[in-house]
Amino acid sequence: MSDPLAALAVGDRPEPEPLPGWTTVRVLAASLNHHDLWTLRGVGIGKDRFPMILGCDAVGVDESGAEVVVYGVIGDPDWPGDEASDPGRTLLSERFPGTFAERVAVPRRNLLAKPAELSTVQAASLGTAWLTAYRMLFVRSGLRPGDTVLVQGSTGGVSSALIALGRAAGYRVWVTGRTEAKRAAAVEIGAHQAFEVGARLPARVDAVMETVGEATWAHSLRAVRPGGTIVISGATTGPNPPAELSRVFFREVSVVGSTMGTRADLASLLSFLVISGVRPAIDSTLPLDRAADGIGKLAAGDITGKIVFTLS
Ligand SMILES: NC(=O)c1ccc[n+]([C@@H]2O[C@H](COP(=O)([O-])OP(=O)(O)OC[C@H]3O[C@@H](n4cnc5c(N)ncnc54)[C@H](OP(=O)(O)O)[C@@H]3O)[C@@H](O)[C@H]2O)c1
Repeated sequence: MSDPLAALAVGDRPEPEPLPGWTTVRVLAASLNHHDLWTLRGVGIGKDRFPMILGCDAVGVDESGAEVVVYGVIGDPDWPGDEASDPGRTLLSERFPGTFAERVAVPRRNLLAKPAELSTVQAASLGTAWLTAYRMLFVRSGLRPGDTVLVQGSTGGVSSALIALGRAAGYRVWVTGRTEAKRAAAVEIGAHQAFEVGARLPARVDAVMETVGEATWAHSLRAVRPGGTIVISGATTGPNPPAELSRVFFREVSVVGSTMGTRADLASLLSFLVISGVRPAIDSTLPLDRAADGIGKLAAGDITGKIVFTLS
């Protein structure tokens, strides 16, 4: 895969221009996501959109001086359903400039009050990876407290969120991780047990949370119980594994897609953290002008939880 840092430039861009119904937020902190690596590699974005400001989520200060969490999904204001079903939706940094900047313009309805119980850095970690994990587990999976879930990946942004949220919700949480240190970190975050990638599990699970793709898909199909569910929101190692359709139909496995979450999901996630006391694992906090260091670390897979960039 290409080096994401080859496409990175740090510099000045014009002030964001709010559209009608939009507002400008002064960014305090924003988290790094795998999405930013895809963008730097030119995946999911046309070259005609470059230069593009990265960053899908943030905490900032709105025009009234209040601290707000930025919801990064920009939907069609006239779409009658929620954002998840809006075919025209886009994520900050895909069409509109993202949050790795002093200021970002967003629709006013995309701002949620930051709960006082969460620090700026904690709240800035939630808008993409944690929101995705929340929707996978609590909206798309059909899991109920007491069920067993397998999370593929242990220390990544989405996987660490899945572990912490799943544990707090009363699921038995099993995890796969690539190294002993990562597996230990997953147990620290809340997993009941951590296994090597592809390992035979003690029993089949009710649902698998899949973001890894080709490297783990066959294992996910073997790990899920008949009638169980695989929720997939990403394919970091590639989107085209052998489908093994006979396993899907013979065992009546449901394969369910999931992408980001709605604004209402984000409000519920913020509330869940306040009520449960769960907090995101923060790998590191870096000033935005050291973005290259954070991007290099994420690309190397050398993280436990979220990398957050701060602006003073
Ligand atoms: N659809 C959506 O709305 C949405 C939202 C968020 C993310 N995503 C996608 O979901 C994926 C994960 O995002 P993220 O931000 O959590 O990325 P991340 O922080 O870079 O995490 C990557 C995860 O993948 C695992 N992994 C990578 N290579 C692997 C391999 N060869 N074998 C086994 N596991 C491997 C890592 O496992 P270890 O813990 O063992 O290192 C880690 O847990 C990305 O592809 C992203 O684009 C989609």
